[in-house]
Amino acid sequence: MFIRNCWYVAAWDTEVPQDAMLARTLLNEPVLLYRDTQGRAVALENRCCHRAAPLHLGRKEGDCVRCMYHGLKFDPTGACVEIPGQDKIPPKTCVKSYPVAERNRLIWVWMGDPAKANPDDIVDYHWHDSPQWRMKPGYIHYKANYKLIVDNLLDFTHLAWVHPTTLGTDSAAGLKPEIERNTDGNGTLTISRWYINDEMPNLHKKVASFEGKVDRWQIYKWSPPALLRMDAGSAPTGTGAPEGTRVPQALQFRHTSIQTPETESTSHYWFCQARNFELENEQMTQAIFDSVVEAFEEDRTMIEAQQKIIDLVPDRPMLPIAADSGLNQARWLIDRLIKAESAQGDA
Ligand code: FES
Ligand SMILES: [Fe+2]
Repeated sequence: MFIRNCWYVAAWDTEVPQDAMLARTLLNEPVLLYRDTQGRAVALENRCCHRAAPLHLGRKEGDCVRCMYHGLKFDPTGACVEIPGQDKIPPKTCVKSYPVAERNRLIWVWMGDPAKANPDDIVDYHWHDSPQWRMKPGYIHYKANYKLIVDNLLDFTHLAWVHPTTLGTDSAAGLKPEIERNTDGNGTLTISRWYINDEMPNLHKKVASFEGKVDRWQIYKWSPPALLRMDAGSAPTGTGAPEGTRVPQALQFRHTSIQTPETESTSHYWFCQARNFELENEQMTQAIFDSVVEAFEEDRTMIEAQQKIIDLVPDRPMLPIAADSGLNQARWLIDRLIKAESAQGDA
């Protein structure tokens, strides 16, 4: 069961170019994404109401899309505006249309009750389009339930084991994060980790303009359904980073990891790692992107393998350990919203 009344990411802006259409399954529903003549994103059910042909095999006609099986034409509200060979269009001839908002280079779709959709509730990812930051957008498809990916992102102990040569350092497994839970709205977890006088991980070493020990940080903000924003960086040790000073050579990153369920056992995953230094250095943009992809492939190998084992006996319980606190709280926030929606009959 999925949370329905929330904004889900459906695509990066560039995945929906002006003249093409994108078919994507979100929460088990086939969705068609395209742009109207003004460039505004449109999200329609990707299933013709006549005989279930997918509309992405159809063609765009102005603001509308025409099903190329028997020619029914739909406008951006999902209403059928033409049935070839038939004058009268019965009011039920329509496909579902979803509220859409484009923010910070992401196309967000509301999968629940349209009356509850408020674009002001979309969380901020300003480093995607701010002139102060630079990033390269990434997408991966996962053969695993989105909650296993959330677990992984909020679990720091795996850094030392899954990513020994990419993200981890020896200190990663032992350090306890500080976790704060806020239950306003959909809820937020803030998870902070400070490593004082520590080694830089390899990802930072590759781009740093200085050497030696650092004070480094990972400050996660996570909100349901599966939205992670992270402030991370390394500063030369003793230069006041924990107190809020960021000396000019400090490396500062903002990380995005967002999942949207495709089905119960597959997920979409959008990510990027933005930086606020050497903005014009294209090689560095690519090198950071490649390092993140390398680390994410390490996670994917483990998580997809984990999903396969879980599928054998899906109800078998997991055994919690102390390090699971963050991910347990995330699952608690997800379950809280699903329960609230079930109680209101929205789920
Ligand atoms: S299935 Fe779309 S027009 Fe017949
Ligand atoms: Fe990981």
